[in-house]
Amino acid sequence: MTGLFITLEGPEGAGKSTLARGLARRLAAAGHPPVEVREPGGTPVAEAARAAFLDAALDASPRAEVFLLLAARADLVSKVIRPALAAGRVVLCDRYELSTEAYQVAGRGLDGAAVRGANRLATGGLVPDLTLIVDVPVGVGQARQEAAGKVPDRLERADADFHARVAAAFRAAAGPGVVHLDGTAAPPEVEAAAWEAVAARLGKQTASARVE
Ligand code: TMP
Repeated sequence: MTGLFITLEGPEGAGKSTLARGLARRLAAAGHPPVEVREPGGTPVAEAARAAFLDAALDASPRAEVFLLLAARADLVSKVIRPALAAGRVVLCDRYELSTEAYQVAGRGLDGAAVRGANRLATGGLVPDLTLIVDVPVGVGQARQEAAGKVPDRLERADADFHARVAAAFRAAAGPGVVHLDGTAAPPEVEAAAWEAVAARLGKQTASARVE
């Protein structure tokens, strides 16, 4: 049996971290303790790339940003995600390629086809089985972060138009395995909706494993 690759996506302040904790608890209780990772990061190379990417003093250019993010992703995929999936584990990844589509393509305005090609090189074509997108309008996410006293990172300090394009790109995302969740709902409701999608995928996985 191969594992299950689940990604969590959405704008700042959408509640992804809270959702990740809730899903990890439920997965563990269902007998599938997940390998939890967050992007960019998760290996020494990826953490170094994350630090460079987020460092305001370095002020990476938009194209350099892509290569830092993809260097991080390439290392994480080959050293952590693929081995975990090969071992039959569930991988729960906070942000993945849809974040690059939203922030670097829609937000920064970089060429979509070129970024997607580079992303495929980085991942070797590994795509999630399930992409859970937590949608929130821009104002809601930012207000939550301010209320929580979070110091905005380099990207979070970008202008309002940038964040509007990012949120719109997440909202518009569609495709196999993509599930949208209403991030303005109460956290337990978001978690319940997410769990429904995850449990359905786990059910399929288990059924196909029985057939094999
Ligand atoms: P976080 O807030 O979820 O820790 O994410 C870190 C920052 O990295 C966040 O501002 C979004 C940004 N990011 C991108 O711009 N592109 C990407 O591909 C990823 C994975 C993250």
